Amino acid sequence: MGDFTVPKYRYPAQFEGRERELLKRIEEVLLRGGYVLGEEVAEFETRLAAYLGTGHAIGVNSGTDALILTLDALGVGPGDEVVTVANTFHATAQAVARRGAVPVYVDCRDDDFLMDLDQLPAAFTERTRAVILVHMFGRAADVPRAREICRDAGVPLVEDCAQAIGARSAGVRVGTVSAAGCWSFAPSKNLAAAGDAGAVSTGDEELAERLRLLRHFGQPAQNQHEILGYNSRLDTLQALVLLHKLDRLDAWNAARAEVAAAYHARLAHLPLRFQAPGAAPDEHVYHLFQVRAASESVRDGLLAHLVASGVDAVVRYPVPLHRQPALSSGGRGNRSGGFPVAEELARQTLCLPVRPDLDEAELGHVCEAVERYFR
Ligand SMILES: Cc1ncc(COP(=O)(O)O)c(C=O)c1O
Repeated sequence: MGDFTVPKYRYPAQFEGRERELLKRIEEVLLRGGYVLGEEVAEFETRLAAYLGTGHAIGVNSGTDALILTLDALGVGPGDEVVTVANTFHATAQAVARRGAVPVYVDCRDDDFLMDLDQLPAAFTERTRAVILVHMFGRAADVPRAREICRDAGVPLVEDCAQAIGARSAGVRVGTVSAAGCWSFAPSKNLAAAGDAGAVSTGDEELAERLRLLRHFGQPAQNQHEILGYNSRLDTLQALVLLHKLDRLDAWNAARAEVAAAYHARLAHLPLRFQAPGAAPDEHVYHLFQVRAASESVRDGLLAHLVASGVDAVVRYPVPLHRQPALSSGGRGNRSGGFPVAEELARQTLCLPVRPDLDEAELGHVCEAVERYFR
């Protein structure tokens, strides 16, 4: 028991048994060239768009860049406001601030930890240029309702899908029916590259074309710079890794959901709450498994106990964005005067390890450690 540990990530597990196949293709590319926007990038984009069920996927070099380029393509710039949720990962707000715009926050809901859409209309002003809905921890937010609110306000809806590849909202994959879905394939994600990688999905041909220009210095052809762009392309080698894994994504997501179901069942008798999983099983792909304690001191005690027991538990995210100096916009993003739910989640939640390859012994170890703390 003493040395048994349960890591939150075990990246090599995703290659086990099929390493040779991938290494052969990597070797081919290394010896052939075509490292930048090689044919495998286009192949991955086609396969990703088909998997999602949308018209276009544009590979970029990170999830953060997917957001920045999307906001740029939508014309968001200095003086504009972009509304998002207060409990998101910092990159959502960094992308807004990077465009010179102000991130305006809406509190999240107490049950599913997602943007409280009832509060969304009150966040709009004449300067609002976009909404970024975030599918937190792998749980799909209510895309149809967000779309309706944004359509009524005449504001484009963008989805930050970094944590939720494969999840569905009202039966439809996230990132497919809004203006754009922004994806991260960073190593911790459900679909992971071997380094930084990202993509934007969209059904809008014109937006897709603009994003292709933006990621490649704004040049439709070499030495021809139509618009100011970025150097943000998905590497060919990363596209190979993603192609190698894409077929297994649904099976891995199903395995994550089994781990989550076991946590729900085995921890139900303890004084803990969980992120509401949604009405249909396909609404959550369990990028992270959030557990909520009754107070900050219980959470902190549980965290210390788990870490001492070899369980790689972690707090995501301990400081809400409106309290981060770089992201608070001097309080301008705090239109509602406070975000009590986001603040409480920051104090009360922690994540238990969830991986597709988490086995019964690990599951038992985590659950016993949690139970021991409350005994
Ligand atoms: C919700 C969310 N948005 C954006 C990002 C940024 O993605 P990346 O790390 O690929 O830049 C991440 C993850 O890192 C994320 O979890």
